[in-house]
Amino acid sequence: MKKPKTILDIGRMKAQQEKISVLTAYDYPFAKLMDSAGIDMILVGDSVGSVVSGYDNTLPVTLEEMIYHTRAVVRGCEEALIITDMPFMSYQVDSRDARINAGRLVKEGGAQAVKLEGGAHVAETIRSIVDIDIPVVGHIGLTPQSIHRMGGFKVQGRQEVQARKILADAKAVEEAGAFAMVLEGIPSELAKEVTQTVSIPTIGIGAGVDCDGQVLVIHDILGLCDKYSPKFVKRYADISEAISQGISDYIREVKAGDFPGPEHSFK
Ligand code: KIV
Repeated sequence: MKKPKTILDIGRMKAQQEKISVLTAYDYPFAKLMDSAGIDMILVGDSVGSVVSGYDNTLPVTLEEMIYHTRAVVRGCEEALIITDMPFMSYQVDSRDARINAGRLVKEGGAQAVKLEGGAHVAETIRSIVDIDIPVVGHIGLTPQSIHRMGGFKVQGRQEVQARKILADAKAVEEAGAFAMVLEGIPSELAKEVTQTVSIPTIGIGAGVDCDGQVLVIHDILGLCDKYSPKFVKRYADISEAISQGISDYIREVKAGDFPGPEHSFK
């Protein structure tokens, strides 16, 4: 009998120094493969905007799109804990909006938790969502929804002042009641300090090996996205090659009249 993971299991993993594995998924087949392989958590990331919808950044992604993708992922999962990103402008204006939108991701999408970007300035919003019993994951450091303020996807926290701010953000996110936080694009030493300071699990992406867990975008690790290739991505397979080969073979056989053969046809 499969047992779905809960936020309590994730908290215990930090306490027992068991590393937490996280990948993004946006659809049923990938979610099913990850769940069967034993992934701990799946993030329905707003990175869907970049790797699936072809936008330059995550800003155009809508709440309706996040609900749609979450539903598909939920149908593919039996054990992994599913977190969905709150897209840009679904929580920034006020806490009431944030609660309504987080509620839709849980009620209509089926997510078990939501993630939102920002530190001390969103602490009150995190608290208000946690207060209606929706678990929250924080996300600090390089926050892609702040691309215009950051002037691009740049490593954050290299200067002492910035590093102190990130540490303060981490504490604020923990105090607001988040059960975990993503640390993105920060120096490894800073990520280590944050991880040792907070009691909730840190999930790193471009934040070194000392985080309590790691998250990557599935399209990046499988070679399905050639738009950009950040230093922190490791390519575990190159399936675009296999896909291109399959498509070319199909086109060639259709043109040559070799497909469909008798075995694919009805009498
Ligand atoms: O949207 C996303 O996929 C994310 C991860 C990269 C952390 O936020």
